[in-house]
Amino acid sequence: MRWSARQRAMLQAMGLRMWDAPPSSGPGADPDGGEPAAAAASPVLQAKAAAPGLARDERSERRPDSPLPERARGEVGPLLPEATDAGTLDWPALRAAVSSCRACALCESRTQTVFGTGNPDADWMIVGEAPGMHEDRLGEPFVGKAGQLLDVMLHAIGLTREPGPAARQVFIANTLKCRPPGNRNPLPDELARCEPFLVRQIELVRPRVILALGRFAVQALLRSNEPIGRLRGHLHRYHGVPLVVTYHPAYLLRNPLDKARAWDDLRFALEVWRRCDTECEHRPRQAEAIPASE
Ligand code: URA
Repeated sequence: MRWSARQRAMLQAMGLRMWDAPPSSGPGADPDGGEPAAAAASPVLQAKAAAPGLARDERSERRPDSPLPERARGEVGPLLPEATDAGTLDWPALRAAVSSCRACALCESRTQTVFGTGNPDADWMIVGEAPGMHEDRLGEPFVGKAGQLLDVMLHAIGLTREPGPAARQVFIANTLKCRPPGNRNPLPDELARCEPFLVRQIELVRPRVILALGRFAVQALLRSNEPIGRLRGHLHRYHGVPLVVTYHPAYLLRNPLDKARAWDDLRFALEVWRRCDTECEHRPRQAEAIPASE
């Protein structure tokens, strides 16, 4: 497995180092030329400071090369009940509805709403929790330290929020569009009132894969109280759209030992994306989006 200088830099920036065999050439060797960078990767990766006495197998619930629990097939139906207003909105109307929303008390304390950013035709949808102080000021999701780590994580598998082909691009949104004061946890009522906006965003983007970051996004989307540790490593679906769970980058900044697991999750998501490439009925691939190496 060959790792390009760019890829190594990305993984290092994520806080991971590699003990792989000396670089060799072969399929998938050039992450810049073909599919997202780490597609066929099988390096031994560990967090910089491995937990003492904890064997890798004990730290990982799923080997990254194990078969997917089930196949990713798109079965997208309407995501919103017909009675829900947001379910009929196009992008401009949805954006306007979010920015004028007064459905919960967060509208009183916000500087502005944070709608989301990225390619509305992206293959990938990244769902975070809620805007923080920087996002509230700038009106963009993930622009603080957690956002910097998120960018590095995305780059490590060849994705970007910058302009590019849909296969490499993401649309990033949060479960809440307004900042909870003092960055407190979202309240159930806030999540419920904001959810139709996210649902409509997912419906409009029709991503091939949703990557859900952290407890609040994951539990809200999956209607589950299970901890991330139990939900990650399995293929879920959100109204037919394949959904992969991983840790929130803010959590990873506080718990760098779990970066190795997050890396496993990213590779798993990439595998799901590749399968969806041939099997997604809800989103047939457009010819121009197929990476050259496929
Ligand atoms: N954390 C999130 O979940 N979302 C943001 O936009 C920023 C930080």
